[in-house]
Amino acid sequence: MRPARKPALLLTRVFPRDVMARARRDYAVLAENPEDTVLAADELLRRAEGAEAILCAAGDPLHAETIARLPGGVRAIATYSVGLDHIDLAAAKARGIVVTNTPDVLTDATAETTMLLILAAARRAGEGERLVRSGQWRGWAPTQLLGMQVSGKRLGILGMGRIGRAVARMARGFLMEVHYHNRNRLEPALEEGATYHSDPASMLTAIDILALTAPGGESLRGWLNAERIALLRNGAVVVNTGRGSLVDDAALIAALKTGHVAFAGLDVYENEPRLHPGYLECENAVLLPHLGSSTVETRNAMGFRALDNLDAVFAGREPPDRVA
Ligand code: DGY
Repeated sequence: MRPARKPALLLTRVFPRDVMARARRDYAVLAENPEDTVLAADELLRRAEGAEAILCAAGDPLHAETIARLPGGVRAIATYSVGLDHIDLAAAKARGIVVTNTPDVLTDATAETTMLLILAAARRAGEGERLVRSGQWRGWAPTQLLGMQVSGKRLGILGMGRIGRAVARMARGFLMEVHYHNRNRLEPALEEGATYHSDPASMLTAIDILALTAPGGESLRGWLNAERIALLRNGAVVVNTGRGSLVDDAALIAALKTGHVAFAGLDVYENEPRLHPGYLECENAVLLPHLGSSTVETRNAMGFRALDNLDAVFAGREPPDRVA
């Protein structure tokens, strides 16, 4: 049963139509953001005046200082993301503000984007598209845009959580041999035959393609640095659908320029959308604009999941995806 009074909700972004409709049906939606800009902290605080809950998204600046200044009535922040690196959870906890995210529902879409980038990078789809569109394509040639065959290659996954495991399942369809590094080894049922490396160096020397699917965070900042890139085989492929902070950009760009990393596929970047300009000089990098979860099905499911969590808070129940 819905509460008679609609709680006041700030929507920081434009969400899919059905999600907006449900939010407007069940909540008193405060000033909307039809321009769909990322709100600066001061603007977010201004719009949060009178709010009891916030539905936010990846990239919103919910740092400690912003959370400390939120109006006293804010009881919950539901983020429309599985990633949490834009929210200071400790600050929210200190204020007694519940924080929830949207796990599970974006697993397959993000794994699909990872496979898309593995294939697009290794098979030079970006260069091929640009060639056709430029009008310079002179027809089939025996040596044109030769890439790396993906089938049967050895794939290393950093971060064998839900998304990493879905990538592993899809990669097995390409007969790939799956390796992974995690803080802890998975149970055999979750491992599904993948080879665990407790030492990242051991994984990096055993693979042809590296997929970063870890959620970021300070402990993994700059994880793929020059030292680790040097452990990859010459001509390796690197794909990142986790977080931009996992990669030392200057090191990866240098390796793309020498060809030590032959191809990269990137969906996430440090300081999005202002990615390191060096990537734009690398024809051998396929660059996507953070499309990981961007299917109609998934973006609706993320919104409904976020609203389910808020509904639980206002009904006095424990929200299913509480992270703080
Ligand atoms: C997430 O959910 O964390 C994705 O990166 C999209 O925001």
